Amino acid sequence: MKSTLTEPRIHDDLAEFYSLWRDACLGKKASEADEVKFLLDTLASFSNVRSVIDLGGSVGLHAIALAKHGFDVTLLDRANTALAIAKRTSPELKTVQSSFESISLTENFDASFCMFSSSSYLLEEAERKAFYDWVKTHITDLAVFDQINTLRLPRTYSDNCQAEDKHFRFNVLREWHFEEDLLHTSFVYEFVDKASEATKIINDRQVQKFLTVEELVEYMGKEWRIVALLGDCNLSQPFDQEKSPRMIAVFKKQDCWKK
Ligand SMILES: C[S@@+](CC[C@H](N)C(=O)[O-])C[C@H]1O[C@@H](n2cnc3c(N)ncnc32)[C@H](O)[C@@H]1O
Repeated sequence: MKSTLTEPRIHDDLAEFYSLWRDACLGKKASEADEVKFLLDTLASFSNVRSVIDLGGSVGLHAIALAKHGFDVTLLDRANTALAIAKRTSPELKTVQSSFESISLTENFDASFCMFSSSSYLLEEAERKAFYDWVKTHITDLAVFDQINTLRLPRTYSDNCQAEDKHFRFNVLREWHFEEDLLHTSFVYEFVDKASEATKIINDRQVQKFLTVEELVEYMGKEWRIVALLGDCNLSQPFDQEKSPRMIAVFKKQDCWKK
């Protein structure tokens, strides 16, 4: 199936190393702590929510923290390995194994969030339509979509980024290029076991399609309105397409459309 070929192993059989990969790609250790603070601020500013769904939440970096803050959290992801790690960390966390394009959950949630470009792995129009249709009909108040700001990226690029934890030093060689509106990235991961200095090299790759804010607005339809468009995980940082590292859209359902 196309989607398994275009999604990287780091979300799947290598999910045990997902936090390291995230730290390396973002160039910052444990940035999810700031992101959780941002989500708490956003939920408090725009809404009075209790139930939330983390769409593409992987190993639960945000979901587990929000559950600790008293929210009724469901973590949805298609990667079984990532969900198993989330459950290992927090056995009581509610998890749902599902692809975005075929969510069969009938339950409604007050709010949803989709962090770190999770929805960019939907490459086909029909998949995106199915996903946003589900969000529009099953989220009753607030929907947050976070993606990297690709408008400021060079069309081709390569770099090296690093991260480490207790056990491993992790080096990532990244090369990307755009083919029309698709971002193709190849990775070479180098894992160095700190205890033995043994090294392992693994190749990985991904393809992503990022949306403009206009496209997001179109998918969300007339019942939803953008209440904040931000350039990073900070409510006082507006989106600037030339400078912002991210593009985060906060949508709220219009009162007149609420049942
Ligand atoms: C870049 S990670 C982001 C994880 C997390 N939201 C974060 O901020 O670190 C993308 C996640 O989306 C999930 N994902 C990608 N495509 C998906 C799809 N079509 N359906 C469900 N989950 C998907 C992957 O399994 C992965 O866990």
